[in-house]
Amino acid sequence: MAENDKIENDFVHLARVALSGRAQDVQTYLHRVAKRRGLNRELSIALVDLLRNNPTRSSPLRKGMEKALPTDTDSRFQLLRVEETPFLHIEPVYTEKVQGTLSRLVEERQNLGALLEAGLEPTRTVLFTGPPGVGKTLGARWVARELGLPLMILDLSAVMSSYLGRTGSNLRHVLDYAKSKDCVLLLDELDAIAKRRDDSGEIGELKRLVTVLLQQLDDWPSSGLLIAATNHADLLDPAVWRRFEQPVDFSLPGEAGIRAFLGALFDEVAPDMSAWVEILSVSLVGRSYSDIEREITLARRSAVLKGEGLDHYLSQLVTADEHSKQERIEIAVRLVSNGLATQRKAHEITGVARDTIRAHLKNDALSGG
Ligand SMILES: Nc1ncnc2c1ncn2[C@@H]1O[C@H](COP(=O)(O)OP(=O)(O)O)[C@@H](O)[C@H]1O
Ligand SMILES: [Mg+2]
Repeated sequence: MAENDKIENDFVHLARVALSGRAQDVQTYLHRVAKRRGLNRELSIALVDLLRNNPTRSSPLRKGMEKALPTDTDSRFQLLRVEETPFLHIEPVYTEKVQGTLSRLVEERQNLGALLEAGLEPTRTVLFTGPPGVGKTLGARWVARELGLPLMILDLSAVMSSYLGRTGSNLRHVLDYAKSKDCVLLLDELDAIAKRRDDSGEIGELKRLVTVLLQQLDDWPSSGLLIAATNHADLLDPAVWRRFEQPVDFSLPGEAGIRAFLGALFDEVAPDMSAWVEILSVSLVGRSYSDIEREITLARRSAVLKGEGLDHYLSQLVTADEHSKQERIEIAVRLVSNGLATQRKAHEITGVARDTIRAHLKNDALSGG
């Protein structure tokens, strides 16, 4: 087809320009393609979006971008990170409750008219709490992506360790700016403010910081969505906590969460990993999603580099952990009944005696499990 030929030609041309390393030429070419009449509308929008978010020095769109932040040289704003088009490298796995709340936040804004008509406003301020690595930052990115809004991230631990954290007026300027934008603002690592309390001699300034924060929370317009996240909810001043309209408690994944997560992680790994998904979802309980992701990546890397086979490194994950005897037995029995290991192998992996494994297998068979 003529249209297909055209796209193939485009592709080859683009590849040639890209391989020559001339980013500017790639942009110019993509611009031309994006404007071409008859081009699939979604493709065209995607291209324009991409170009807008990846401006090179002399890009024609760069000027527009620079207006996004007050001035590049104003150090107050350098700690505000903007993700124009939030991108998730992985789809988050949440409990029904957390997912329900996040979806509602999105729905509220997608049905703003109906709410306003009924004299209601959407939720303005949200507090994400939970241990590290369970998807709080990811959740803010998810909400922003679903709403089609940019995500602005102010990492308060970075702010607090820089001179910016020294004055409340710095914080107010940055928040005022974010407030004026149609965006989702994430105040990440909120507990950093509370943590600095240990630094004696700065109590007065710290109080001003907290005051600024409280004012901003109260004044936050319903046109914007402010999400704060903390790993240490216990460190938060109750006065701060109370100000948020919607708390969302993220927790470490349970078996079901890990199962879903591993399913997605292993999706591109051949061959069928479902047996391992079962086993690891038992043995990795107690670990965070980011921990689990790291372990699996390490195992996959080792398998590629050392050639022992992925099974070998995954079984190390089962043993490496501190498991109770009962858990080890459960894992061993699953290994055998899933056909992943012989009884001897299961014994090697888990340290459970073969007799014990046999006895449990027999029991399971009798009880029809
Ligand atoms: N609920 C989740 N679902 C899928 N992946 C997750 C989840 N939580 C964490 N991850 C993985 O761990 C990484 C770090 O998560 P992050 O959202 O930064 O954790 P937190 O902000 O809670 O400390 C994510 O980028 C993702 O790869
Ligand atoms: Mg985080």
